[in-house]
Amino acid sequence: MLGAMTTIGARAALEEAVAKLPSGLRDHVLRVVEEARRLAPRYGIDEERAVVAALGHDLERAERPSELLRQAEAAGLEPSEVERSAPILLHGALSARLMAERFGVADEEVLAAARYHTTGRAGMSALERLIFVVDKIEPGKLRGEPALAEARRLADESLEAAMRCLLDLHVSRALAQGWPLHPNVVAARNELLVG
Ligand SMILES: [Fe+2]
Ligand SMILES: [Fe+2]
Repeated sequence: MLGAMTTIGARAALEEAVAKLPSGLRDHVLRVVEEARRLAPRYGIDEERAVVAALGHDLERAERPSELLRQAEAAGLEPSEVERSAPILLHGALSARLMAERFGVADEEVLAAARYHTTGRAGMSALERLIFVVDKIEPGKLRGEPALAEARRLADESLEAAMRCLLDLHVSRALAQGWPLHPNVVAARNELLVG
């Protein structure tokens, strides 16, 4: 009961923080919340935990790359070479940190869902998979990326199938653009292929 009350307190504070984000980011987060709420029951995921993870996942998304790197170093996260080359990769871990430290979120699975929403990882919980997927298939992202429509359709059937589609899309794009692959992307995809 105490856990549930704590989550509800965090939710109200997170809603206030989200309302203060830049408008484009705020609208994205609110659409992610809606998608998380829509799909959570389908996969037996607690709706309140899904909403709290969705509200917090991008709290640090609007920070400048130099600031993300500074915060990650200050927090002892020891950014890798790939993360140093694209500090935006650090915003999930830093958002999770903020959720724990400023908003009192203590649920490790909720924090992991925020931490790994960008790259995925091997061994994700259903909640982590949900947040990874809904972050990328919310209708606002679809408008700029028609290829995401297939992932959105798959998300109604299987989070694993939607993840596989999204990770394949990411790898294709990385090859085309010459981006490095984050090791967690490879681990997440390998697990879905052969795990
Ligand atoms: Fe994000
Ligand atoms: Fe996001």
